[in-house]
Amino acid sequence: MRLTRTISNPSAFASARNRESAVKIFVATHNAHKLKEISQILPGLEIVADNPDGVKETAPDFAGNALIKVRAIAPHHRGAWCMADDSGLEVAALGGAPGVRSARYAGEPSNTPANNALLLRNLDGVEDRKANFTCAIALVDPEGREHVAVGKCFGAIACSPSGAEGFGYDPLFIPDGCSKSFAELSADEKNAISHRGRALEKVKEIVGDWGTGNGVA
Ligand code: IMP
Repeated sequence: MRLTRTISNPSAFASARNRESAVKIFVATHNAHKLKEISQILPGLEIVADNPDGVKETAPDFAGNALIKVRAIAPHHRGAWCMADDSGLEVAALGGAPGVRSARYAGEPSNTPANNALLLRNLDGVEDRKANFTCAIALVDPEGREHVAVGKCFGAIACSPSGAEGFGYDPLFIPDGCSKSFAELSADEKNAISHRGRALEKVKEIVGDWGTGNGVA
């Protein structure tokens, strides 16, 4: 069964853009944390979560998987904006793992404490702890054209978790130039430097005023 859920208040966008109603965008995800961050970074849009069931993320990279997810919902929302986020953590000393398997690193079903524990075990005694998050955002615009924006955030994996904010690997990720983990930062602080924040800044350039989809690519 398809489930949709609106999570943001459209009024801010309406006044900001001097429009009668907010632009509606359908986001293909089950992940409430991602939705929250997307709505914080793109305030004022009417963001509607669409749960695409049974979608297999079979692409070898984040952009490919983001496109698979957005293509699963776009035919149900013709004439509207659709979006999907595929993201994950890449650790240099692990050859880029967990990468596209970040959500299920310790196996199915996705289990964040198990993923984080496995990551720490696999890096036990490893000196090179360089890592980066990558986020690919795939969009289908109201005319059916596809766009992809990618953002990265570089840093290192801590030896133990710290902080209670955010989600996923946030307690283990120390962004470059920062002494705190992502999970110790406020939402605004994380969004300003995160892979998702950076990808969505590029999305803003691509879509312009969300009216035509003919912004700067
Ligand atoms: P996806 O739903 O297949 O894109 O999987 C994303 C997975 O990557 C999440 O379940 C997290 O484990 C991890 N991830 C992605 N973005 C973040 C983030 O901002 N913080 C922490 N972990 C993240």
